[in-house]
Amino acid sequence: MTQLGTLEELPQSYRDALTERNLVPLWPAMRSVLPYKVPTRDTSVTKWDYQSLRPLLMQAGELTPIEKAERRVLILANPGHGLENIQATPSIYLGMQLILPGETAPNHRHTPSAVRVIVEGEGAFTTVDGEPCKMERGDLILTPAGKWHEHTHEGDGPIVWLDVLDLPLIYRLNGSWAIEGELQNSDKVRDKSYSDYSAAGVVPNINLTRGSDNTPQLRYPWSKTRACLVEMAADHSDGLLSISYVNPETGRSIFPSIGFGAIMLRPGETQTLPKRTTPVIFHVLEGEGSMAVEGHPSTDGTPQGFVEKDTLSAPGYTHITLTNLSSSEPLFLMTADESPLHEYLGIF
Ligand SMILES: [Fe+2]
Repeated sequence: MTQLGTLEELPQSYRDALTERNLVPLWPAMRSVLPYKVPTRDTSVTKWDYQSLRPLLMQAGELTPIEKAERRVLILANPGHGLENIQATPSIYLGMQLILPGETAPNHRHTPSAVRVIVEGEGAFTTVDGEPCKMERGDLILTPAGKWHEHTHEGDGPIVWLDVLDLPLIYRLNGSWAIEGELQNSDKVRDKSYSDYSAAGVVPNINLTRGSDNTPQLRYPWSKTRACLVEMAADHSDGLLSISYVNPETGRSIFPSIGFGAIMLRPGETQTLPKRTTPVIFHVLEGEGSMAVEGHPSTDGTPQGFVEKDTLSAPGYTHITLTNLSSSEPLFLMTADESPLHEYLGIF
């Protein structure tokens, strides 16, 4: 490729005249905004190890009462994006949230959409637009854009979940805002939307959300997803075992911004994922394994081990190889990526 002219080659008087008129010459910046063949990928290969994160989260419980925090969260920030930008990937925010027994995270709603993945603890539920959703290990609990939500904890021990939001995207669109509300009346049956959509192939004719890009189902229980992957494994002795979480009315991604899925690796198995444009987040639901990423400056491709409850990120345009290090137990991972956006934009 031809070497283009630099800013320094232009006379200072000319540069000053441009700046004064809010003008910028394209050619000195063109190669960096349109690099050859592979884009700039700020997301670095990163692991947030739960065992070292957990004591700090529990300490936050002692240091900051819930009234002073509203959401007691440690953000999983990717160093490749700069910690202050609170991005795990360009569009995805991740946070570990702690609620102690008897605490309530007050009712609010906001423009970013959120999924929480339960990491540990029992007895909490999230009420979304009047519908209490039970929170069990590995479940996805959804609060699509604009829906009221509050979290209540009636169990004995602490409860921790992983928040996954499209906050960085909505924030940079200058569309991020929230309002607080009164405590909700739980006027609906617990897990009503899950019950409505839990019969495969059947969609109730009572909802008014038909055609919306956000799914009407608010809870996706891990027990059902796990059973589905285990059944797939019984039918297929090789090949990648993976599922996508979809809107039961449209078959499309549960959110237009973030795609969610789950992967199972058979005992001892190694799989290289199909090469893809979008960065990906992995959260370890069960088991232990390793991840090797090739094709990014943040790693030399050495496999990095992980155990249950760890969270990892990998950039796009790389080869990702996952290995289940157990010879007897399956490995289950939850995935989150930006594929719905890439597909919509025609760059996937
Ligand atoms: Fe929220």
